[in-house]
Amino acid sequence: MVRARPPRLPDRCSDLTLDPMELAALILAAGKGTRMKSALPKVLHPIAGRSMVGHVLDTVSSLDPAQVAVVIGPDMEMVAEAVAPAAAVVQPKQLGTADAVKAARDVLPGGTGANGGTVLVLYGDTPFIGRETLEKMVAARQASSDTAVVVLGFRPPDPGAYGRLVLGANGELEAIVEARDASPEQLGIDLCNSGVMAIDRARLWALIDAVGNDNAKGEYYLTDIVAIARGQGLACAYIEADAEELSGVNSRAELAVAEAIMQQRLRAAAMANGATLTDPTTVWFSHDTQIGQDVTIGPNVFFGPGVSVADGAEIRAFCHLEGARVGENVTIGPFARLRPGAVVQKGARVGNFVEVKNATLEEGAKVNHLTYIGDARVGKAANVGAGTITCNYDGFLKYHTDIGAGAFIGSNTALVAPVKIGDGAIVGAGSTIGRDVEADALAVERAESKTTPGWAKMFREKKSAEKAAKAKKK
Ligand code: UD1
Ligand code: CA
Repeated sequence: MVRARPPRLPDRCSDLTLDPMELAALILAAGKGTRMKSALPKVLHPIAGRSMVGHVLDTVSSLDPAQVAVVIGPDMEMVAEAVAPAAAVVQPKQLGTADAVKAARDVLPGGTGANGGTVLVLYGDTPFIGRETLEKMVAARQASSDTAVVVLGFRPPDPGAYGRLVLGANGELEAIVEARDASPEQLGIDLCNSGVMAIDRARLWALIDAVGNDNAKGEYYLTDIVAIARGQGLACAYIEADAEELSGVNSRAELAVAEAIMQQRLRAAAMANGATLTDPTTVWFSHDTQIGQDVTIGPNVFFGPGVSVADGAEIRAFCHLEGARVGENVTIGPFARLRPGAVVQKGARVGNFVEVKNATLEEGAKVNHLTYIGDARVGKAANVGAGTITCNYDGFLKYHTDIGAGAFIGSNTALVAPVKIGDGAIVGAGSTIGRDVEADALAVERAESKTTPGWAKMFREKKSAEKAAKAKKK
């Protein structure tokens, strides 16, 4: 919903072309996030495997802005690293949201584009902000050079401490009043400030410089630029978005709520795309999980970042996958773990209590039970028996194991890397293999077994006689 006086806005924002050269984005993230009670800066806390600020950056990048900058606090090098290549600028003291914008003056000089360009201001702790909403805001701002500021409003269930949007007689935006500075009548307004703003870049610095700190908190409020612009006869507009899109994270409890919202979206997207989730609420995705069509995912499955699952694959209950590629018609689990670098090709199988790390299982290979495959290749249609371990680490370095196509590794085999098992070779159960095995050979490494007929019977008779004699003595 868009309300503004003038301009009349087109119904669809696609009617307007956004010139990315005229667009810059500024993400405010200098707040300490005290209520998180964390050594980690608030905006680095992850939701669906990506930091909150990462979500915001990703959405912003989809608009292809010419510049993106993030305002951080003095001890937040970690945030600077996380947001690169976006510029990080330090706000030395937290004197308010307008002061935070000031910190970016050097990296965002006044605009020169036709129309002056637009600076989008967002918060690093509001991860659900959507691309379409931002597009609408930029379009509304750029629709007229008289529009100085477009504010994103919403109607939260409890307006509480949010700033209130004060509208004029014709529904135009006149001012934003912070809750602490609001009159009882203004506190009754349910239309609130989300904090997201689109500002005319040509006027940005003049507006910011006009902001004072004579208010309840003694801070420089970015929200004051609305009344300042109106005072100069400029237009301000607002757009409304739904409350969920604008929910922010200030505490661990709110982080959990945000995670739940994000998971709900990811599950819905996977199902809409043609995957079956037996018990959707127990499946956990990462922001980047790629799930193909006719994939079946059983209960209690966790996807860390960097996983793709191709069409027709089945991930059975209680699996944990991270940085892994699962091919077409593959079966994983139940109770399997795929770690980074695991590649399971078409039709291969990874069964229960199997861990795979940095290894490729080629087409049709089977690793069905109780096995560790690390730093390895398992060739096409090879079969790895229960309890096989690739001994890939000597305490200092990691080594590679290569299992040829069609090879058969007997149960409880230790493959001491570096080692190579040739195509079609068979390794006898219980072997410890430290030397290469040539193609089609048999390798067995175990002590020869010896059988003494009747020995067990003799032993039992002797022992029971001894026991009986001892009992008699007592
Ligand atoms: C702000 C808005 C309020 C709005 C609310 C929405 C102002 C004056 N008020 O209030 O109208 O309803 O957000 O959540 O803008 N930040 C800095 N440096 C600072 C201060 C803040 O970078 O000096 C950053 C914070 O990290 C945060 C954002 O700006 O990401 C908002 O700051 P916060 O203190 O949470 O603002 P509110 O008081 O909640
Ligand atoms: Ca806040």
